[in-house]
Amino acid sequence: MRIDTPVAIVGAGPAGLLLSHLLHLEGIESVVIEIRSRDYVEHRVRAGVLEQGTVDVLDECGAAERMHREGLVHRGIELRFDGRRHRIDFPGLTGGRSIVVYGQQEVVKDLIRLRLAAGGRILFEADDVSVHDLESSAPRVRFLKGGEEIELACRIVAGCDGFHGVCREAIPAGVLSFYERVYPFAWLGILAQAPPPSEELIYACHERGFALYSMRSPAISRLYLQVAPDEETVNWPDARIWRELNRRLGDGARLDEGPILEKGVTGMRSFIAEPMQFGKLFLAGDAAHIVPPTGAKGLNIAVADVRVLSRAIAEYFASGTETLLKAYSQTCLKRVWRAERFSWWMTAMLHRFPEHDGFQHRLQRSELDYVVSSRAASASLAENYVGLPFDT
Ligand code: FAD
Ligand code: PHB
Repeated sequence: MRIDTPVAIVGAGPAGLLLSHLLHLEGIESVVIEIRSRDYVEHRVRAGVLEQGTVDVLDECGAAERMHREGLVHRGIELRFDGRRHRIDFPGLTGGRSIVVYGQQEVVKDLIRLRLAAGGRILFEADDVSVHDLESSAPRVRFLKGGEEIELACRIVAGCDGFHGVCREAIPAGVLSFYERVYPFAWLGILAQAPPPSEELIYACHERGFALYSMRSPAISRLYLQVAPDEETVNWPDARIWRELNRRLGDGARLDEGPILEKGVTGMRSFIAEPMQFGKLFLAGDAAHIVPPTGAKGLNIAVADVRVLSRAIAEYFASGTETLLKAYSQTCLKRVWRAERFSWWMTAMLHRFPEHDGFQHRLQRSELDYVVSSRAASASLAENYVGLPFDT
């Protein structure tokens, strides 16, 4: 079976779904193909911090109604180290900007509902997805759906299929340059039915390793622990997790413990593929770049990418002009590298590195001390955390 569509979007994560919605608002239809089921993508627990700019994009495109009802506006974070607690006040340091804590899977649910209500096509549980003729003006995407072979005939392919997707891999060897750092640790993340010990996120740098306290609602906590890179969840029974969280995050008071609803280990890497384009294939989000989660930037740069891409595609279909499409990669990479730098810096400042000697360890402490004692340094952290304004 063949389906004609102006834009084929591979991947129904935040990048693919938001792109499809933004294009729809520009009068451009698309088909989204996703290897997983709807239930799976709607329940995959991942990011939780939305920058002010991401909130603004969701607002402008009418996808923020539930987020405003259920999301938690946060005006700061706490840094904890050496028994000290320091608050970074976002609005005070950034001229009034803040963030919203709202689960990524909730954003995904909202976007799927919006797309389907508008008659948008999202084909879940597609197998053997492949992309073809990317250098021609008529690229194609092929896949199997319920055993049937389907071909999407399109003019633009958006590769929004995450880090392990097929789109980046389909670009011939030698075209892309890769920039990468793999960190010598991972994060063990849990979702727990336990009330928050604090109204704001706590980033803790502890001699036993980094810990992060976040949340999803006044009754659900999201907590992370730095663990070995090859760690497995079977080694972390619930009691061990709570013991370790109490050690690293506790400042005398015990955390409220509750049933652990979800457990997972995430490797930490920085990765950028340049350029984010090959012929009529445009990569967006994790398909093109990965950040370690310490800066809470991954979802936010995925949103920034598709904001740029939707405008470029709209220009292309409206006038046949490729100016914005040609500039796509360069426009995005500027913001991507800023997020990469910030995420790398937060990761380096807050984690325990096995190879660190006394010199590096003391530099790390001195950096934290500077960040919390200098208004300029606090402001630098705050303006990056809430997100730099969009250029245009
Ligand atoms: P994805 O969400 O990965 O979506 C890609 C989609 O493509 C998936 O649905 C996948 O199933 C599908 N797919 C894959 N292969 C194929 C194929 N061959 N064909 C069709 N479909 C395919 N970011 C933040 O901004 N803030 C945070 O607080 C934050 N915390 C995080 C915490 C953790 C533990 C993790 C793991 C990540 C975190 N991130 C955070 C990063 C954020 O989750 C990602 O950057 C974000 O999901 C990127 O969205 P995306 O749409 O580009 O990719
Ligand atoms: C989350 O709530 O999942 C979260 C928050 C901040 C981060 C990473 C993840 O830096």
